Amino acid sequence: MIPKKGMIKSTDAFERLVHWWLAITCIILILTGLGMMFHSFNFLGTPLGGLKNLKLVHNFTGLLFAPALFFAILIWWREAGVFKMPEDLEWIKVAGGYLWHVDDVPETGKYNPGQKAFFLAVAIFGILMVASGLIMWFPLSLPSGLVQWMYPLHALGMLVIFPFVLVHIYLGTIGVPGSARAIFTGYVTRSWAEKQCPGWLKEMEEEGRLEIYGEEKEEAAHG
Ligand code: HEM
Repeated sequence: MIPKKGMIKSTDAFERLVHWWLAITCIILILTGLGMMFHSFNFLGTPLGGLKNLKLVHNFTGLLFAPALFFAILIWWREAGVFKMPEDLEWIKVAGGYLWHVDDVPETGKYNPGQKAFFLAVAIFGILMVASGLIMWFPLSLPSGLVQWMYPLHALGMLVIFPFVLVHIYLGTIGVPGSARAIFTGYVTRSWAEKQCPGWLKEMEEEGRLEIYGEEKEEAAHG
């Protein structure tokens, strides 16, 4: 996992911090949520001393998830939150070559439409989860009809986010080998970048903004 000379920088330290803050809180919320929702997952409360504590962990993790979501939206909305037409539509038509063989997959920027869909699902339904969760926790004097709507909305958000997260973890590890490096070390190989985000790679090179591992050191040594 240690970056090697010639690797390309794809994420900075703040992005990685926000990613793992978001990812860890999101996974805890999913597990504790499942533990409360289904009898067959009630056992998840046992190590915490019961379902009451499971609920406490869920609610307070929600409070930690909210700022992570805020920073995630701030960092990624430009690159992962806006579809670029017609390129993205062309990519969607061939499912990015993920489902059947495609000779020439249309080029994408930093994030492909699948990743954009994931980001948007997390952003939109994440906000919905935080809002509905807070209203259920602190109904204050809100109309009871409104508060009751928060329960099915919260469950709907879970139904959307959970499968997306499973696919994201699969693609980030086994599905597209070399991706996890981006979010653990900040660096990816050139061949990975050429395949996964060729448009971004070209743009960065043209603008002279590409950071390559080991190159600065070399310059410093020569200087
Ligand atoms: C636990 C295993 C996980 C792994 C290995 C993983 C891996 C990755 C990787 C490699 C990227 C960067 C992709 C790139 O630069 O091309 C990324 C981005 C991202 N991850 Fe994760 N991730 C994990 C969990 C999660 C979870 C649970 C969430 C929940 C919200 C999440 C949310 C995001 C978001 C919003 C992005 C940025 C935009 C996008 O790719 O759509 N990740 N992740």
